Amino acid sequence: MESESLRMTALVEDMLLLARLDAGRPLDSAPVDLTGLAIDAIADAHAAGPDHTWRLDLPGTDEGDEGDEDDEAEEVVVLGDDHRLRQVLANLLSNARVHTPAGTTVTVRPRRDGNRVVLEVGDDGPGIPPALRDRLFQRFTRGDASRNRAAGSTGLGLAIAHAVVSAHGGTLEVDSRPGATTFTVTLPAAPDA
Ligand SMILES: Nc1ncnc2c1ncn2[C@@H]1O[C@H](COP(=O)(O)OP(=O)(O)OP(=O)(O)O)[C@@H](O)[C@H]1O
Ligand SMILES: [Mg+2]
Repeated sequence: MESESLRMTALVEDMLLLARLDAGRPLDSAPVDLTGLAIDAIADAHAAGPDHTWRLDLPGTDEGDEGDEDDEAEEVVVLGDDHRLRQVLANLLSNARVHTPAGTTVTVRPRRDGNRVVLEVGDDGPGIPPALRDRLFQRFTRGDASRNRAAGSTGLGLAIAHAVVSAHGGTLEVDSRPGATTFTVTLPAAPDA
Protein backbone atom coordinates (compact mmCIF):
# COMPACT_ATOMS: atom_id res chain seq x y z
CA MET A 1 0.00 0.00 0.00
CA GLU A 2 2.81 2.37 0.84
CA SER A 3 4.65 1.94 -2.45
CA GLU A 4 1.39 2.14 -4.35
CA SER A 5 0.47 5.39 -2.65
CA LEU A 6 3.93 6.81 -3.40
CA ARG A 7 3.44 5.87 -7.04
CA MET A 8 0.03 7.55 -7.13
CA THR A 9 1.41 10.69 -5.46
CA ALA A 10 4.17 10.94 -8.05
CA LEU A 11 1.62 10.46 -10.84
CA VAL A 12 -0.67 13.17 -9.49
CA GLU A 13 2.29 15.55 -9.08
CA ASP A 14 3.39 14.91 -12.67
CA MET A 15 -0.11 15.53 -14.01
CA LEU A 16 -0.49 18.71 -11.95
CA LEU A 17 2.80 20.02 -13.27
CA LEU A 18 1.73 19.35 -16.86
CA ALA A 19 -1.60 21.08 -16.23
CA ARG A 20 0.21 24.11 -14.81
CA LEU A 21 2.57 24.25 -17.78
CA ASP A 22 -0.43 23.92 -20.13
CA ALA A 23 -2.06 26.84 -18.34
CA GLY A 24 1.05 28.92 -19.02
CA ARG A 25 1.79 29.53 -15.34
CA PRO A 26 4.97 31.62 -15.13
CA LEU A 27 8.14 29.84 -14.06
CA ASP A 28 10.90 31.25 -11.91
CA SER A 29 13.44 33.28 -13.82
CA ALA A 30 16.64 33.25 -11.76
CA PRO A 31 20.20 32.46 -12.90
CA VAL A 32 20.71 28.69 -12.92
CA ASP A 33 24.11 27.12 -13.48
CA LEU A 34 23.56 23.99 -15.54
CA THR A 35 27.00 22.62 -14.69
CA GLY A 36 26.07 22.60 -11.01
CA LEU A 37 22.76 20.96 -11.84
CA ALA A 38 24.55 18.31 -13.89
CA ILE A 39 26.96 17.53 -11.03
CA ASP A 40 24.07 17.08 -8.59
CA ALA A 41 22.01 15.01 -11.02
CA ILE A 42 24.93 12.68 -11.72
CA ALA A 43 25.55 12.18 -8.02
CA ASP A 44 21.89 11.21 -7.55
CA ALA A 45 21.91 8.96 -10.61
CA HIS A 46 25.06 7.24 -9.40
CA ALA A 47 23.42 6.46 -6.07
CA ALA A 48 20.27 5.16 -7.78
CA GLY A 49 22.12 3.22 -10.48
CA PRO A 50 25.53 2.02 -9.25
CA ASP A 51 25.65 -0.59 -12.06
CA HIS A 52 25.76 2.08 -14.75
CA THR A 53 28.79 4.24 -15.51
CA TRP A 54 28.05 7.96 -15.11
CA ARG A 55 30.25 10.58 -16.75
CA LEU A 56 30.33 14.33 -16.67
CA ASP A 57 32.00 15.83 -19.71
CA LEU A 58 32.89 19.49 -19.12
CA PRO A 59 34.16 21.87 -21.79
CA GLY A 60 37.93 22.31 -21.82
CA THR A 61 38.62 19.04 -20.04
CA ASP A 62 39.62 17.16 -23.21
CA GLU A 63 43.10 15.69 -23.31
CA GLY A 64 45.73 18.03 -24.62
CA ASP A 65 43.48 20.98 -24.05
CA GLU A 66 45.30 22.29 -21.00
CA GLY A 67 46.70 25.75 -21.07
CA ASP A 68 44.55 26.82 -23.98
CA GLU A 69 43.91 30.57 -23.71
CA ASP A 70 40.36 30.20 -24.95
CA ASP A 71 39.75 27.67 -22.27
CA GLU A 72 38.50 30.08 -19.66
CA ALA A 73 35.43 28.30 -18.33
CA GLU A 74 32.45 29.70 -20.14
CA GLU A 75 29.44 30.04 -17.95
CA VAL A 76 26.68 27.60 -18.67
CA VAL A 77 23.98 29.70 -17.07
CA VAL A 78 20.36 30.20 -18.03
CA LEU A 79 17.55 32.29 -16.57
CA GLY A 80 14.99 29.85 -15.36
CA ASP A 81 13.41 27.67 -12.76
CA ASP A 82 16.04 25.73 -10.84
CA HIS A 83 13.60 23.14 -9.51
CA ARG A 84 12.02 22.42 -12.90
CA LEU A 85 15.34 22.27 -14.73
CA ARG A 86 16.58 19.78 -12.14
CA GLN A 87 13.53 17.72 -12.93
CA VAL A 88 14.35 17.72 -16.66
CA LEU A 89 17.80 16.33 -15.95
CA ALA A 90 16.47 13.85 -13.41
CA ASN A 91 13.93 12.54 -15.93
CA LEU A 92 16.54 12.15 -18.68
CA LEU A 93 19.00 10.44 -16.33
CA SER A 94 16.37 8.16 -14.87
CA ASN A 95 15.45 7.07 -18.41
CA ALA A 96 19.10 6.39 -19.19
CA ARG A 97 19.20 4.19 -16.10
CA VAL A 98 15.82 2.44 -16.25
CA HIS A 99 15.58 1.79 -20.00
CA THR A 100 19.13 0.49 -20.52
CA PRO A 101 20.94 -2.56 -19.13
CA ALA A 102 23.55 -2.54 -16.37
CA GLY A 103 26.97 -1.56 -17.65
CA THR A 104 25.60 1.21 -19.88
CA THR A 105 27.66 4.41 -19.88
CA VAL A 106 25.74 7.66 -19.54
CA THR A 107 27.45 10.96 -20.33
CA VAL A 108 26.17 14.41 -19.39
CA ARG A 109 27.71 17.26 -21.37
CA PRO A 110 26.86 20.89 -20.54
CA ARG A 111 28.38 23.58 -22.76
CA ARG A 112 27.98 27.11 -23.99
CA ASP A 113 27.31 27.66 -27.68
CA GLY A 114 27.26 31.38 -28.45
CA ASN A 115 24.11 32.83 -26.93
CA ARG A 116 22.70 29.41 -26.17
CA VAL A 117 23.53 26.70 -23.72
CA VAL A 118 23.39 23.07 -24.71
CA LEU A 119 23.06 20.11 -22.39
CA GLU A 120 23.42 16.64 -23.84
CA VAL A 121 22.54 13.39 -22.11
CA GLY A 122 23.92 10.46 -24.07
CA ASP A 123 23.95 6.73 -23.43
CA ASP A 124 25.35 3.71 -25.25
CA GLY A 125 22.33 1.51 -24.48
CA PRO A 126 20.04 -0.28 -26.93
CA GLY A 127 18.29 2.87 -28.15
CA ILE A 128 14.67 4.01 -28.41
CA PRO A 129 12.33 1.55 -30.09
CA PRO A 130 11.61 2.97 -33.60
CA ALA A 131 7.86 2.63 -33.03
CA LEU A 132 8.07 5.21 -30.22
CA ARG A 133 10.20 7.85 -31.88
CA ASP A 134 7.48 9.92 -33.50
CA ARG A 135 5.49 10.34 -30.31
CA LEU A 136 8.27 10.15 -27.76
CA PHE A 137 7.45 13.53 -26.20
CA GLN A 138 3.72 12.90 -26.06
CA ARG A 139 2.06 12.00 -22.78
CA PHE A 140 1.82 8.35 -21.81
CA THR A 141 4.19 7.15 -24.53
CA ARG A 142 6.28 4.28 -23.22
CA GLY A 143 7.98 1.21 -24.56
CA ASP A 144 6.59 -2.30 -24.25
CA ALA A 145 9.23 -3.21 -21.71
CA SER A 146 8.02 -0.33 -19.53
CA ARG A 147 4.36 -1.25 -19.58
CA ASN A 148 4.33 -3.00 -16.28
CA ARG A 149 3.75 -1.62 -12.89
CA ALA A 150 6.92 -3.14 -11.50
CA ALA A 151 8.81 -0.69 -13.68
CA GLY A 152 6.67 2.08 -12.19
CA SER A 153 6.56 3.70 -15.59
CA THR A 154 3.78 6.05 -16.67
CA GLY A 155 5.22 7.60 -19.81
CA LEU A 156 5.12 11.19 -18.56
CA GLY A 157 8.84 11.80 -17.99
CA LEU A 158 9.72 13.03 -21.48
CA ALA A 159 6.44 14.92 -21.90
CA ILE A 160 7.31 16.85 -18.74
CA ALA A 161 10.91 17.43 -19.80
CA HIS A 162 9.71 18.72 -23.18
CA ALA A 163 7.07 21.00 -21.63
CA VAL A 164 9.52 22.47 -19.09
CA VAL A 165 12.20 23.11 -21.72
CA SER A 166 9.63 24.70 -24.06
CA ALA A 167 8.36 26.91 -21.23
CA HIS A 168 11.96 28.18 -20.94
CA GLY A 169 12.02 29.06 -24.63
CA GLY A 170 14.23 26.07 -25.44
CA THR A 171 14.10 22.84 -27.40
CA LEU A 172 14.48 19.16 -26.53
CA GLU A 173 15.63 16.86 -29.32
CA VAL A 174 16.58 13.22 -29.54
CA ASP A 175 18.83 11.22 -31.77
CA SER A 176 18.82 7.48 -31.21
CA ARG A 177 20.17 4.33 -32.77
CA PRO A 178 21.34 1.13 -31.10
CA GLY A 179 24.42 1.98 -29.04
CA ALA A 180 23.98 5.76 -29.21
CA THR A 181 21.05 7.69 -27.81
CA THR A 182 21.40 11.41 -27.17
CA PHE A 183 18.88 13.86 -25.77
CA THR A 184 19.84 17.48 -26.42
CA VAL A 185 18.43 20.36 -24.38
CA THR A 186 19.06 23.80 -25.89
CA LEU A 187 18.21 26.93 -23.89
CA PRO A 188 18.85 30.65 -24.30
CA ALA A 189 21.95 31.60 -22.28
CA ALA A 190 21.53 34.16 -19.51
CA PRO A 191 22.87 37.54 -20.64
CA ASP A 192 26.44 38.00 -19.32
CA ALA A 193 26.51 39.80 -16.01
N1 LIG B 1 17.66 6.51 -22.88
C1 LIG B 1 16.69 5.70 -23.33
N2 LIG B 1 17.01 4.50 -23.89
C2 LIG B 1 16.04 3.67 -24.37
N3 LIG B 1 14.71 3.94 -24.33
C3 LIG B 1 14.33 5.12 -23.77
C4 LIG B 1 15.29 6.05 -23.25
N4 LIG B 1 14.62 7.12 -22.78
C5 LIG B 1 13.31 6.87 -23.00
N5 LIG B 1 13.12 5.66 -23.60
C6 LIG B 1 11.82 5.07 -24.03
O1 LIG B 1 10.90 6.13 -24.12
C7 LIG B 1 9.73 5.82 -23.34
C8 LIG B 1 9.14 7.12 -22.80
O2 LIG B 1 9.97 7.71 -21.79
P1 LIG B 1 9.30 8.58 -20.64
O3 LIG B 1 10.36 9.06 -19.74
O4 LIG B 1 8.41 9.60 -21.28
O5 LIG B 1 8.34 7.55 -19.92
P2 LIG B 1 8.75 6.36 -18.92
O6 LIG B 1 10.19 6.45 -18.56
O7 LIG B 1 8.27 5.08 -19.54
O8 LIG B 1 7.83 6.67 -17.65
P3 LIG B 1 8.06 7.80 -16.54
O9 LIG B 1 9.21 8.63 -16.99
O10 LIG B 1 6.77 8.55 -16.50
O11 LIG B 1 8.34 7.03 -15.31
C9 LIG B 1 10.21 4.86 -22.28
O12 LIG B 1 9.16 4.01 -21.82
C10 LIG B 1 11.28 4.05 -23.05
O13 LIG B 1 10.67 3.01 -23.80
MG1 LIG C 1 10.99 8.24 -17.85
